[in-house]
Amino acid sequence: MVAAGGRDAIVEARQASMKEMAAAAKTIAGIFDGKLAYDAAAFKAAAETIRARSGPALIAEFPSTTLGAPSGARLEIEQARPEFEALANHMGTLAEALAAKARQAPAGITGDMRMGSGLAMGGGSLLGKRPAAEADPAKLPVEHLLHLILQDCSSCHSKFRQKVQ
Ligand code: HEC
Repeated sequence: MVAAGGRDAIVEARQASMKEMAAAAKTIAGIFDGKLAYDAAAFKAAAETIRARSGPALIAEFPSTTLGAPSGARLEIEQARPEFEALANHMGTLAEALAAKARQAPAGITGDMRMGSGLAMGGGSLLGKRPAAEADPAKLPVEHLLHLILQDCSSCHSKFRQKVQ
């Protein structure tokens, strides 16, 4: 494979992977917002899609030779690798917890899956200053895990993604 073709293939593959994560996140958000009917199998598949594409898999999608225009991946990824990888891995840990819960998903939505049901967890209120992500993710309700994951998407995009074209 020639260098240019290789770069394009990697960029295309990661953009496709990002889009799949976005669709999966939308599905889960839709389920909890009541816009989509709850379906344990769909929930499980969506959580697995996010899990499989975060953490080390996400990091591997950004080799240094593929950064910068015409890709949406900024050169800063290379200059701040530890921060980029920490974000990918933070999201990965949350996505692992989400997928583990989805594998055990009940036939119907239960109250303990809802945001707010874990308020006492982690030694502080979610409304407090201490980031709830420091709490054990396995103890957070599914809906809350999704919100934390979406925050990681945004944090990474605001620093490491650029508009191209
Ligand atoms: C650690 C950093 C990081 C995380 C976390 C991350 N992204 Fe991205 N995302 C990027 C970068 C960088 C790009 C630009 C990739 C490119 O164009 O080469 C991108 C691109 C995208 C795109 C545009 C793809 C396209 O077709 O151009 C979407 C959609 C997206 N991300 C969704 C998500 C969602 C949803 C999540 C969370 C579930 C997420 N991302 C988490 C770094 C991240």
